[in-house]
This record gives sequence, C-alpha cells and structure tokens, in this order.
Amino acid sequence: MTEDLRIGGIAVIDFGSQYTQLIARRIREAGVYAEVFPFDAPADHINRHQPRGYILSGGPESVYKEGAPQLQPALLRSGLPILGVCYGMQAMTHALGGEVASAQHREFGRATLAHTGGVLFKDVPPTSLVWMSHGDRIERPAPGFTPLATSDHSPYAAIADEARGLYGVQFHPEVNHTEYGRAIYRNFVIDVCGCDPKWTPGAFIDDTIERIRAQVGDERVLLALSGGVDSSVVAALLQKAIGDRLICCFVNTGMLRLGEAEQVTRVFRDERGLNLTAIDATEEFLTRLHGVTDPEQKRKTVGKAFIDTFSDFARSLEGVTFLAQGTIYPDVIESAHSSRASKTIKSHHNVGGLPDDLQFELVEPIRDLFKDEVRKVGEALGLPESIIWRQPFPGPGLAVRCPGEITWDRLETLRAADAIFTNELHKAGLLRHDEGMGTSQAFAVLLPVKAVGVMGDERTYEEVVVLRAVVTDDFMTADWARLDSALLARVSSQIVNRVKGVNRVLYDITSKPPGTIEWE
Ligand code: XMP
Repeated sequence: MTEDLRIGGIAVIDFGSQYTQLIARRIREAGVYAEVFPFDAPADHINRHQPRGYILSGGPESVYKEGAPQLQPALLRSGLPILGVCYGMQAMTHALGGEVASAQHREFGRATLAHTGGVLFKDVPPTSLVWMSHGDRIERPAPGFTPLATSDHSPYAAIADEARGLYGVQFHPEVNHTEYGRAIYRNFVIDVCGCDPKWTPGAFIDDTIERIRAQVGDERVLLALSGGVDSSVVAALLQKAIGDRLICCFVNTGMLRLGEAEQVTRVFRDERGLNLTAIDATEEFLTRLHGVTDPEQKRKTVGKAFIDTFSDFARSLEGVTFLAQGTIYPDVIESAHSSRASKTIKSHHNVGGLPDDLQFELVEPIRDLFKDEVRKVGEALGLPESIIWRQPFPGPGLAVRCPGEITWDRLETLRAADAIFTNELHKAGLLRHDEGMGTSQAFAVLLPVKAVGVMGDERTYEEVVVLRAVVTDDFMTADWARLDSALLARVSSQIVNRVKGVNRVLYDITSKPPGTIEWE
C-alpha cells in the first residue's frame, strides 16, 4: 500500500457556520486533504489522520453566551498551527485570554482589507476586498498576538502569534467575494502547516483502486447504476479496480427523461464495456402507479418497485456479497449541527431498504469526496461531459413532475416538452451552474389542468407545461433562474407547436423557500 493520502492534511473544526464545508473544499482545491469535525468531537477522532493543522470555522454564536461552542484545550496543546476564521478566531482569542466584545455595528458584506505582510498574506496585494459577516469583534487580542491586517470597522481584521503558528481572520476567505481567499488558505496550509499538496484526482484514483482491491479480493460487486454522476464515477472506479467482477444493473423505471436509458447503456455497456444489465421495468412501474396521485405515495410506490426489481436481480446472482454505493462526503459529514441534532440521512439514490435475505458489505469508494471532486475524478476517468455535468434527477423521476394521474401518454408528452427545454438550455451553455451563470436544475412539469387556446381556426383545450429552472449551491435554498426572454420564447413556441396535448407554457418564478424545486 502506498502512503495514505489522508494523512497529513487539515482538520476543519465546525462551530456551526454555513461555510464550514466550503472551507474544506477550498483546502482540497489547494491539493490538501481536509476533513470536517464537530467542535466537540474527541481529540483522538479529530487527529485520526494526523493533521498538520486546524482551521476553526465561523459560527452563529457569541463566545460569551451560555453554552456557546468553545475551542478544545487539546487542540491548543497540540502545538499544531491553527487558523481561526471569524467565530473561530474569537473562540481562540477567548480561550487564550484576549477580549471579545459585541461590535457597535454589525459588519456584513464587502470590506477593504489592508495588511502589513507576513506569510499568511503572501501573493495578496496590500489592499483587497474581503467578505465580512460578524457581530462580535476582537477588542484586545490574546497575549503574544499582533495585528496583521485592518478593515474600516475591524482594527483586528487579521491577527497572529507567528511564533506559535496561531492565526485569526475576522473575514471569510472561503467565499468567492474575498478576492484572495484561496491564496490565504493555500499560504496557511502549505507554508504555515507544511502540508504536501498530494490530494489530486490522479492520486485519489490510484489510492481508491488499491483500497477497493484490498476490500473486495477476488469477489464480485453489485452496483445499481443510475447514470447520475455519483454512481457513474463509482462504476468507472470499480471497473478499473476489478474489471468484469463489477456487475451493474440499470433499471428503466419508465419515469426517465427522453433518451436517458439509451444513453446510459450506450456509454457504459457499448463504449466502456461495463458488465451492465439493463432491465426495462416500465410496465411494472406503470401498473403499480395506476391511480396513484398523492406525491408521497408516488415516491413510495416508485421506491418499492425499484427495490423489488433490484432485489430480484440481486437474487439471480449467486454468491455476490458486496454492494457498491455512490455515497459522498456531504451525506456523511459530521457537523456541529449533526453532533447536536439527529442526523438526516439521504434515503434517495442509495439502495437502502433491501429485504433481510439480501445482506451485503458496502463498498463506498467516493464517500470522502465533495461533489466538485467527484466531477474532477470523473473527468480524470474519461467520463463524457453529459454524465459529469448531469443535473440532479430525483429517484422517483418524472413521476413527481407529472402531477395527477400518471399515464404513458402523459409521460411521453412531458418527455417531449422537457427535451425541448433542456436542449435549448444546452445550446445556450446553460445546463450547468458556474460563477452565477446557468442553471443548477432545469426541467419541465406537466400539469393536469386544461386551458383553452386557439390554433389556426381551431379552438384547443389541452394541458399546461410549466418550465422550472433554478440556481442554487446546495439545493436547500434556491432562486429561480433569470432566463433570457428570447430563450423562453423559443422554448414556448416549440413546445406548443410540436408537443401534442399541450397548448400553454408557464415559467415558474417561485424561489425555495417557500417553493420546493420539484412540484411534488
Ligand atoms: P426539493 O423539491 O425538495 O428538491 O426542493 C431538492 C433536491 O432534491 C431532489 N429531490 C429528490 N431526489 N428523490 C430523490 O432522489 C426524491 O424523492 C426527491 N425529491 C426531491 C430534487 O430534484 C432537488 O435536486
């Protein structure tokens, strides 16, 4: 075995900030492995991969408030470098005998930072823009600390005790609005902590192949391939590691988008030579969905039909003991919230709920990766862009985009309208969301509502299609996409002219909250 890639990275200590995961992603962009731990995790757990430094996240509390999360003395005693961000800096200051007070003005938004040099600000111009979001501020740094930077409202916008390797910044280097945030994190992890930038897609792939082989030996592994980026990357990794001993099963539920089933079989079976069985279970799913109109009931029906189909396939294979899953890091991350509140585990996409007679050991090759890293690994494995940048698609598929009764005809109508919309977005380069451009998820919905229209001399009375397009980073909140009206006009006229059964097109301008992304 080569050296563990996870050794010698950074432990990010979560004090509850919405940006904690973003800190870990930025560190990994610098080529250094970073893991997130709740502030109250046992020190030996935090140190399990022998980190070379700690980054303390921001958080919503005030350090003096009763029950506010505190910095563990064990981390300070370790002698490792520490960078405190916002609340993290205040918690460190408080722990080391400095003074934190509530600021006269809450500082929120862009601020100009002026620094006086030093290793943390290597390659950062003397003045630059940073993102502030805090109520409290440092009144008096702890003994040994000196100011490194100021902003209009923060005399201690950055402080350090360089001899001890302790740093604090009041602003948020992880958000894009901080112009040189990436440089600041890189300086901390490479120059201050001395981390080796060895966390690359290529190294991850080599390491993962070794791990898979060590776990699986000569056995076979079963994978439910959906064609989404996670299961696709898992398939490509496992194929590299164990070749034909990976058995993939793709279930066509009949609730898929136009051409989707064909694309998955073409890419994975024909082009990449995967051992892939495609099961067309359309009839079975449609039969079970007959008369079901309640959204939750639809989800349950599709979920159960999927498990049954998959279980039948699994039973037909004798002696397969491993099941691969595309679990990713945000599904398993231990955060300040998860240590306090009960953890919600994503149940869709994974093959949870298998019957008792099917017992598998799980193989989860991408469970340490963030989504953007899954994509980079997918690129390095040569997967096509259409798979790597495929937008999320719910497990129940079109069943939850077709309110009312689900019939084959209505599904075909929806597929045709959806394909017109996504094709126009694709042509305009808007099917991915980058730096505020494009869409994170876009699709059509077919309403069971009829409207009156006129076509030529004829009066029509047909169903209504809704176009839904959102931008979001985390899918927890989302804004409706401000699509160009010329694009919407093209989509609308193509749908009404070409898709039988539809005579009206609406654009959904509801954000989440209060709306959800899906309609059901
Ligand atoms: P909502 O509609 O809750 O969706 O704003 C948030 C994200 O989750 C996806 N979604 C699902 N995915 N099974 C899934 O696998 C489901 O039942 C399901 N419901 C919603 C949705 O597409 C969006 O990306």
